[in-house]
Amino acid sequence: MQEETYQSEKFIIVKTGVNGLDDLIEGGFPEKSITLVSGSPGAGKSILCFQFIYEGVNNGENVLYLTLDKREEGILLQAKKLGYDFQPAIENGQATFRYLNINKKLVYETMSNEILSGKYDRIVLDSITPLSEMPLFLADTQNNMNGSGYSFVDTENQSTGLSGPVQRKHILFIMNALESSEATTIITSELSLSSSNLSRDGISEFLADGVILLKADPTMDRRKLSIFKMRNTKHTLKPQDIQINENGITLVRKTM
Ligand SMILES: Nc1ncnc2c1ncn2[C@@H]1O[C@H](COP(=O)(O)OP(=O)(O)OP(=O)(O)O)[C@@H](O)[C@H]1O
Ligand SMILES: [Mg+2]
Repeated sequence: MQEETYQSEKFIIVKTGVNGLDDLIEGGFPEKSITLVSGSPGAGKSILCFQFIYEGVNNGENVLYLTLDKREEGILLQAKKLGYDFQPAIENGQATFRYLNINKKLVYETMSNEILSGKYDRIVLDSITPLSEMPLFLADTQNNMNGSGYSFVDTENQSTGLSGPVQRKHILFIMNALESSEATTIITSELSLSSSNLSRDGISEFLADGVILLKADPTMDRRKLSIFKMRNTKHTLKPQDIQINENGITLVRKTM
């Protein structure tokens, strides 16, 4: 009996919303997992995120899209052009889009409060890169305000005494919050065109449950998607041909 519970818990999967991707990862992302989607500018990271949360909305789930790149309006317009109109879901409370301004001192609190609100089945953080690189420290403290082991300290008020690499602390803090939320999550990371890394920070790929790399090859006018990691899932490592068109990202099926 116990084994059955374990089995059924293990195999709850969440459809990605990307045509063809689910077939490569045993049906979708493991529920409550964190998947890192990395890629160069224009590789399709945000589009994949739209598809993921649109799938959630269509299933009657509650979704959260945290953006650091653009204000909500720009993101919504971009999504609508691809056929993902989130306006009705925003109006009925199913979808929340929130712009995080990294110049604001309270950005970490705003973000973690939203993530930990417990309201969401799917969360997107697009992207983690500005947060991991910002000059705002999270200091270890006994008397922290959120039980995470960290509190929020502005660099202006911090003289000396911080230990450990700041970037790692930022990423760990974000990952811990996402894990505690129990939502199924995508975070994106911005790579340069020539990068051979799996994330900009070199840390996220180890902490995430899954890693998907999107590559655009301008010379060949070709796009590829590779699944580098998906915990508890059997998957191919082979780069897959993808297309972006007015319907978003689709995996190209090869005909024999
Ligand atoms: N209707 C369409 N048909 C074909 N390609 C499209 C279409 N809409 C968008 N694209 C392609 O998708 C790209 C944008 O994808 P997306 O915004 O997801 O990239 P990104 O990886 O999030 O980039 P960034 O790191 O700059 O945020 C465009 O640059 C274009 O190449
Ligand atoms: Mg983007």
